[in-house]
Amino acid sequence: MSGPVDPSTSTARAGLGVGDTGDGVDLVAPLTLASVRAYADLPSVDEAMEGRNSYRRYGGGNPQRLEEAMIELETVPGRAAPVARVTSSGQAALLLATTLLVTPSRSRMVVLRPCYGGTESLLAGPLGNLGVKVTTVDVPAGGGVDHGAIVAAALGPDVAAVVTEVITNPLIGVVDMPAVAAAAHQSGAACIVDSTFTPPFLFQPFAHGADLVIHSLTKYLSGHSDVIGGVLLIDAANPAGDWLDAHSRLLGCTLSPFDSWLALRGLRTAGLRMERGSQNAAALASFLAERPEIAAVHYPGMRGPQDAALAQRLLPRGTGAMLSIDLRGGGGAADAFIRGLNGIRLAPSLGDVATTVSYPASTSHRALSPQQRAALGITDGLVRISVGIEHIDDLKAEFDAALVAASAG
Ligand SMILES: Cc1ncc(COP(=O)(O)O)c(C=O)c1O
Repeated sequence: MSGPVDPSTSTARAGLGVGDTGDGVDLVAPLTLASVRAYADLPSVDEAMEGRNSYRRYGGGNPQRLEEAMIELETVPGRAAPVARVTSSGQAALLLATTLLVTPSRSRMVVLRPCYGGTESLLAGPLGNLGVKVTTVDVPAGGGVDHGAIVAAALGPDVAAVVTEVITNPLIGVVDMPAVAAAAHQSGAACIVDSTFTPPFLFQPFAHGADLVIHSLTKYLSGHSDVIGGVLLIDAANPAGDWLDAHSRLLGCTLSPFDSWLALRGLRTAGLRMERGSQNAAALASFLAERPEIAAVHYPGMRGPQDAALAQRLLPRGTGAMLSIDLRGGGGAADAFIRGLNGIRLAPSLGDVATTVSYPASTSHRALSPQQRAALGITDGLVRISVGIEHIDDLKAEFDAALVAASAG
């Protein structure tokens, strides 16, 4: 096909074998498990060591096919393609990114909060032991705040990178990511975007100034709760890309063939799943906003006209499939609500093909103290919802029944 195609088209075809004469080829790539290859002589092994197939920690067919699909998805039309490595988890992608950026003179990372709890914990904990310093910047939900300015106030010549999400976990606020990247660049820092909640069908961070992009493949991109994986992509113009291969080989955070194979299989339907999940989430957010049992619905664009304008500017194709609700009645009401769900499962993750709920206070944000959670707005009544592809009428009926149960209990 000539010319650019929609990302959902190219992903539906990701990794497919090209037809051959004679006996043909497998339509989907086989799973290759060998951890090492055999060679006939020294020149062959010498040459192979420069490539990625000799030893599976360096790459291999299944991970590389997945990387190619992710590179295609995150390539901004008209621009050079990023470089990428798939990793053993989303956390490993952040670890890999940090090792590429931190230097003795730039050893501080600025993290926008709220964000996935493990982001701050990884940087401040294990990486803190190695000398990485962390400054957190709390981004208030809603419009009227200059995100670039509040990030700029935390920057200095010792900052290696700013880490931000586009849709924040778990309060589903929209971050003015382009303004954050611009502030980072002003002080010579890189901008790392964790785009896990905003797959490339909805948002391409490199088009908005990101230098490095991370996804937890565990979530929407794989989509079936059977993979733990991540990917790190680096803009073609960023020098950190030169070291990506070496660091990935040395850290040993490679994704296994089977996880790569499963992730690629899931990825092929991710465009469709995101489209339906986004539509369902929008309908559900409006439905839940009317309910008296709920103190607040956290959903992009629902915090006033400036928030709505930011959501529309950054995410015109849809704001994703995540929302959170704050139940009146706190933890007791949240427990009764979750018990009242019938087919929707409580699971400490997101991005499954089916709707799941999670409870941030005891899962993704359990490392924060109750005071820190309260300061960020992560209340005991907060339930996070990852919306799947079910029929919207069934979702509404099930949430309706659970809300009635919560208010009765
Ligand atoms: C936004 C976000 N980023 C990163 C991660 C880490 O991903 P993984 O569990 O694949 O390491 C998570 C996990 O929940 C997440 O929600």
